[in-house]
Amino acid sequence: MDIFDKCLEFTKVEDYKERGIYPYFFPISENYGPRVVMEGREIIMIGSNNYLGLTKDPRVQEAAIKAVEKFGTSCSGSRFLNGTYELHVELEARLAKFVNKEAALMFSTGYQTNVGAIYTILDKNSVVITDKTNHACLFDGILLAKGTNPGMVMRRYKHNDMDDLERVISTVDPELPKLIITDGVFSMEGDIVKLPRLLRIAKTHRARVYVDDAHGMGVLGKTGRGTLEHFHAFDDVDLVTTTFSKSFASLGGFVAGKAEVINYIKHFSRPLIFSAAIPPANTAAVLKALEIIESEPEIVHRLQQTGERMRREFTALGFDTGDSETPIIPILVRDYDKTFAFWKALFEAGIYTNAVVSPAVPADRSLLRTSYMATHTDKDLDQVLDTFKKIGKQMGII
Ligand SMILES: Cc1ncc(COP(=O)(O)O)c(C=O)c1O
Repeated sequence: MDIFDKCLEFTKVEDYKERGIYPYFFPISENYGPRVVMEGREIIMIGSNNYLGLTKDPRVQEAAIKAVEKFGTSCSGSRFLNGTYELHVELEARLAKFVNKEAALMFSTGYQTNVGAIYTILDKNSVVITDKTNHACLFDGILLAKGTNPGMVMRRYKHNDMDDLERVISTVDPELPKLIITDGVFSMEGDIVKLPRLLRIAKTHRARVYVDDAHGMGVLGKTGRGTLEHFHAFDDVDLVTTTFSKSFASLGGFVAGKAEVINYIKHFSRPLIFSAAIPPANTAAVLKALEIIESEPEIVHRLQQTGERMRREFTALGFDTGDSETPIIPILVRDYDKTFAFWKALFEAGIYTNAVVSPAVPADRSLLRTSYMATHTDKDLDQVLDTFKKIGKQMGII
């Protein structure tokens, strides 16, 4: 036996490549926002999380360039010791205000934000209750906490099923401290957490509530403040997190909540303390993106209207879009190989989507994940719909 045996035996990727239907790690050679160049061809991108299209906004680009000129290309260290810049401090104050919380703390990726916050908050007496389909980094934070506190309890409830949450939480010792963790918008199928009922259950059972709003911020709410704004629930959610890699056109993330809780995370979170700070260019890009979201809510509205239009038209064509309520619109194919074949046919016709199969979703929910940008033109969207209609019919999907 050799430690690398499993690597040498892993041939599935080569099989799919030989069949010409391997859809992952596809290089982009040029990025125009809603359109990109892949394999030398211009492709309409409906597989990105650049929801507001701000990665190509000249104001955001200029802010990043200026930050490089002023501060250099890296912070060269952790926030804890030598990597905190005034830009970080300014942005944290602005972000806390954006989500109506006392304080915010940034991490270098959205993944680290959730691992770092969850791992630090949970301890040996904690009970964490989590939606089964939450993002992997929420589970990784729980697993890291469990690794250091083996006595800690994790319970899962069925996806967005509040009856099941109630059932699960009712079996937990009422005296133990509890945290309910959920995504705001679920990343694969674009459905929104049933937050009002979740909050009532949390109140009854004296549980704290943690919402990862990676796909909600910049997307939901009248002013783009996300799931909490959508449900008018800023005061009832204890901790909210998001990533900067989606609507905020950058890299990183933040957690926001009560000042004492954020201060505790700041001083005990290993993924924060033992990793380098967000580089100046990325920090300045978020600051500018935030300024644009705050001053131009019409881009958020355009994105919301685009999501509504695409969902309406896909459904009218006969596609199954699941429970999506956001600009993330799954096209359920429900078959592993057919999902890859559909992906390939669309790609050849000039449309890039994300093929999502087990274990990311249950096998009978294999899907193409489509997602839209405020900067997609009506012409882009018409072309997407026409192509889906043609290929969907040819393949017997509609
Ligand atoms: C729901 C959710 N949370 C967190 C993350 C992690 O964010 P990042 O990619 O910025 O590390 C993602 C990224 O895909 C996500 O979808």
